Amino acid sequence: MRLVIKSVLTWALAAAPILVDAASLQKVTENFGPNPRNVGFYIYVPDKLAASPPILVNPHWCHGDAQVCYSGSQYSTLASKYGFIVIYPDSPNTADKCWDVSSNATLTHDAGGDSLGIASMVRWTLAKYKGDPKRVFVTGISSGAMMTSVLVGAYPDLFAAGSAFAGVPYGCFSGNGYGVWSDACATGKVKKTGAEWASMVKAGYPGYSGWRPKMQIFHGTQDEVLNYTNFEEEIKEWITVFGYGETPTSTTSNTPVGGWTKYVYGGNNWFQAFSAAGVSHNIQNQEATAMAWFDLTCTEGDCFQWGQGGPTAQ
Ligand SMILES: *[C@@H]1O[C@H](CO)[C@@H](O)[C@H](O)[C@H]1NC(C)=O
Ligand SMILES: *[C@@H]1O[C@H](CO)[C@@H](O)[C@H](O)[C@H]1NC(C)=O
Repeated sequence: MRLVIKSVLTWALAAAPILVDAASLQKVTENFGPNPRNVGFYIYVPDKLAASPPILVNPHWCHGDAQVCYSGSQYSTLASKYGFIVIYPDSPNTADKCWDVSSNATLTHDAGGDSLGIASMVRWTLAKYKGDPKRVFVTGISSGAMMTSVLVGAYPDLFAAGSAFAGVPYGCFSGNGYGVWSDACATGKVKKTGAEWASMVKAGYPGYSGWRPKMQIFHGTQDEVLNYTNFEEEIKEWITVFGYGETPTSTTSNTPVGGWTKYVYGGNNWFQAFSAAGVSHNIQNQEATAMAWFDLTCTEGDCFQWGQGGPTAQ
């Protein structure tokens, strides 16, 4: 009996180093391309990468940073399991660690601002790790959700899909300057027609007429920081960008959480909006739902592919 126990223990100890991923969050200090605002570049590269690994960008919330974003979600564990890379950008705005989602530069393709630093991180990572340019995704909460909208709007050629929790429409914080907080937008006083929102998105990459990343948004009805009105404005924005009608093509209750309602717009599941009844700004991250949206659990075969070099029409 004792012998059996000993051999089981020996096996477990011997096997442990193989099972445990020793990777950790690393800061990239070399020159990775244009980064006019000095956005910090942190990356999680699991020990075992998928062939042509997908990339997930995960910008933090206000008063957060790359480290707390890394330790505050399941994404690094999931990256180790499925072999994708996670980029955790770190805001250079030391005052409140919010992202620059207001400057003309950040809202415009390759024009500067925080968004350009993040785009450079993606391009560098694709080249260095031979990543899959058709499988680059972005998700974030609060200011990270706002940056998700900015990246999906201004860099539709880089991203295949976005998933934004408790954010605002692309362009809602726009104003004359870097990192300007918009009380008007936050409190739900910035309302536009779908056409007005969509023309802002189009102005984010002048002359671009290619495909658009698919988009998924979540918002609590009792959001006290970024009013729920922003959810309705985001819906108008993205359905107009995609050319969808205002009536959802499907409505599902209690998904993925009790009391949350999922609305799908258009015929090809390219835009989803989740309304979280009774939920405040402190909305729960839904990694499993975002992973499914990005198809990041797919490691071989017919995985979801869009992005640069992917299909040219929806
Ligand atoms: C940003 O763009 C707006 C609209 O085109 C313009 O009115 C404003 O002067 C620009 N601001 C800066 C700082 O360039
Ligand atoms: C959101 O704004 C509406 C309209 O001003 C207001 O009635 C509502 O109380 C606000 N929601 C929260 C949670 O503050």
